[in-house]
Amino acid sequence: MTAAPEHAGDAARLEVVCAVADMAIAVPPDTSILEAVRRAGLPVPAACADGRCGACETRVLEGRPDHRDGVLTGEERAYGETMMLCVSRATPPWLVLDL
Ligand code: FES
Repeated sequence: MTAAPEHAGDAARLEVVCAVADMAIAVPPDTSILEAVRRAGLPVPAACADGRCGACETRVLEGRPDHRDGVLTGEERAYGETMMLCVSRATPPWLVLDL
């Protein structure tokens, strides 16, 4: 069983580059990456929006995710190849995603 998700309310502003869409998106501290990319018009699937279902799992091309979900195993978190956009952030605060 994996750890319970944490919420991103205290997170820093992030800069996210969506490589496929060729788009840079600023993610405010009180907004999830999922919300920000959807507002920008990218159709990322989601169901729970609290890091428990895995629907928003997205490939990370560059950057270091700060995993806050309850889906990935410790090994998957350490590998950092994917992340849940609904709750996770990044440290340092930038990412390049396969979107
Ligand atoms: S929408 Fe369920 S883990 Fe992100």
